[in-house]
Amino acid sequence: MRINLRVWRQPGPNGEGTLVAYSAADVSPDMSFLEMLDAVNEGLIAKGDDPIAFDSDCREGICGACGFLINGVPHGPDPGTAVCQLHMRRFRDGDTLVLEPWRARAFPLVKDLVVDRSAFDRIIQAGGYTSINVGGAQDGNAILIPKPVVEQAMDSAACIGCGACVAACKNASAALFTSAKISHLALLTQGHVEKDRRAVAMVERHDAEGFGSCSNEGECEAVCPKEIPITNIARMNREYLRAMFVARL
Ligand code: SF4
Ligand code: FES
Repeated sequence: MRINLRVWRQPGPNGEGTLVAYSAADVSPDMSFLEMLDAVNEGLIAKGDDPIAFDSDCREGICGACGFLINGVPHGPDPGTAVCQLHMRRFRDGDTLVLEPWRARAFPLVKDLVVDRSAFDRIIQAGGYTSINVGGAQDGNAILIPKPVVEQAMDSAACIGCGACVAACKNASAALFTSAKISHLALLTQGHVEKDRRAVAMVERHDAEGFGSCSNEGECEAVCPKEIPITNIARMNREYLRAMFVARL
């Protein structure tokens, strides 16, 4: 296949950016999307040009490092799929694909398709850690937690922190990410003790980082590669309000 690319190139945070056209030739349908970009970069390097900067690490959908917009959609057209899991067989010979970085004030651009997502790290840091003493390793069934609760906690913990939810949101809100992190600890017995303090600290850090408010549009859920449900946002709001007005933190 031959794929026409239009890639956002920007040398740095303060440099001027523009879309640059590239042609990816001899693309195998079995290539992953990032392998296709690797091949384009090898061609650029061979010509002495600057390769396209993009993030990746695990390349199997578990680390959250990768992510950019493909034709305006975070992680591209396949639901529940990070861009590193996307394959070129999803596209047709002659397709034109526009690649752009996440666009949000709280994710300043580093270079080309790479943005700084350290705001997510600071939200997690604000949550602190579970400081209660749970003693030694428990027997398997010593802390009985209903299976539906365990499943919800695990589903929330699946968030890989990629930032696609922010990129899809017209308010650039990180509510889905923050609520997933709040939920997965709040739901489990071990996380109950500090859940009020944690919810308030993480929501306040979210706002301080410059992310917008959630207005229940649902784009975040639609593009999330881990299909984190927006019911987490409702839980976060309940946790926050309860902490502010009942626990009076
Ligand atoms: S909620 Fe989904 S889209 Fe948002 S950071 Fe987590 S995995 Fe990525
Ligand atoms: S590179 Fe790890 S999730 Fe895509």
